[in-house]
Amino acid sequence: MAAWDLLLRGAHLIDGSGAPAASADVALAGGRIAAVGRLDPGDAASVRDLDGLALAPGFIDVHTHDDRLLLSDPSMTPKLSQGVTTVIAGNCGISLAPLGDAEAVPPINLVAEVEDGRRFGSFADYFAALDASPPSVNCAALVGHTTLRVRTMAALDRPATGAEIAAMQALVAEAIEAGAIGASTGTYYGPASAATADEIRRVLEPLRGSGALIASHIRDETDGVLQAMREAFGIAAELGVRQVISHHKLAGKANFGRSSETLALFDETRKRADVCLDCYPYAASSTILRADAANIAASTLVTWSTPRPEFAGRYLDAIAAELGVAPAAAVELLQPAGAIYFMMDEADVERILAYPETMVGSDGLPHDLFPHPRLWGAFPRVLGHYARERKLFPLETAVHKMTGLSAGRFGLAGRGLVRPGYAADLVVFDPDTVADTATFAKPVSPAAGIVSVFVNGVESWTAGGHTGARAGTAIRRGR
Ligand code: ZN
Ligand code: CU
Repeated sequence: MAAWDLLLRGAHLIDGSGAPAASADVALAGGRIAAVGRLDPGDAASVRDLDGLALAPGFIDVHTHDDRLLLSDPSMTPKLSQGVTTVIAGNCGISLAPLGDAEAVPPINLVAEVEDGRRFGSFADYFAALDASPPSVNCAALVGHTTLRVRTMAALDRPATGAEIAAMQALVAEAIEAGAIGASTGTYYGPASAATADEIRRVLEPLRGSGALIASHIRDETDGVLQAMREAFGIAAELGVRQVISHHKLAGKANFGRSSETLALFDETRKRADVCLDCYPYAASSTILRADAANIAASTLVTWSTPRPEFAGRYLDAIAAELGVAPAAAVELLQPAGAIYFMMDEADVERILAYPETMVGSDGLPHDLFPHPRLWGAFPRVLGHYARERKLFPLETAVHKMTGLSAGRFGLAGRGLVRPGYAADLVVFDPDTVADTATFAKPVSPAAGIVSVFVNGVESWTAGGHTGARAGTAIRRGR
């Protein structure tokens, strides 16, 4: 009997560690990587010649809002088609669990349906649903502080009371016990903006000593960015936990160029704390439609609107002109709605992306009618545009930022590297042609140059499309 299920022969191996690529064969057995090196094809049940195509660990999308998509469309095509094999859900303070029957106020409506849809009162229930209906990629999850507030608080325009904090703490403890890898916060958003640092620190007390982490969507990514970073760093420092600053950016023309200041603050903080960051490779952001964001954006593109779905994919100024109202009034008329904001400086995007502690996360919004192209294009854009064309860093560094670095920081043991014993989450791509094809004008478009994607050893995506495999697993912290 053959020792290996499959031998991938003659790969240009980029192992995820950031080390220089090398020619190698990789053997798969029982969903894991069995051997790496010069291998004897006689030991394999089947052999595939890669002829120098790049072979890398499957990409890890560390910043997603895929909580509901994992269940509502388990094919996970927007991610799998990019070579992503693991997603981290529950970012920005908003997680589907444990919202329970509470109202899905914005921005929770980005992951939970306002009307019906499946709801989960606990992380145990959410994980059980994922186990019962496995998605095509692996997932790990954060518990969102905004979700906890909406679930437990009688009013959101004030800090939590002692009793509310105790209720939220119990839910955090349940999430961590069930296997959540950490918690996320989103004080930028209305339902959590009245939360103080002290509230958050007390709610997240169960993280202390657990090995779980905090992902922070900070209060302000504009003029007050440094103060907002310091507030977030302070919470993690008091709890003694690892921290990820989410989708790091500088928004608004007045703040263009200030990534030199914020990255210097990261350097300074990293001398005493375990902090890192993720970013998406675009100079435009996307979230719910807000007048304050539209005000500082050069232009605003509507991605969805419940009362006026016909305006998805159109610019706010044009919509306002057509409706004969001011843009701020149009923002009100379209609610609830989402938008893309062209509000960043490309030089900042490049400087942040190139920072050694920066991981790639898409921040894709999978339920938007006319989504930001990052949903389908973030990973190939880093490989093609930023590494190959812009030469911002070597291809090995690009892959490291989406694999080994990410698995290490998020505590995903046994993933993110091509090493014997690691899960056979793998992507085969053509380094000469890999590219994003999703654009702001045509955002739903699979990547070019992704040849094959394996999830836990099962080929799930090929140049011909989705294979139908659903080999993903819900990854529990520490297991
Ligand atoms: Zn966010
Ligand atoms: Cu996000």
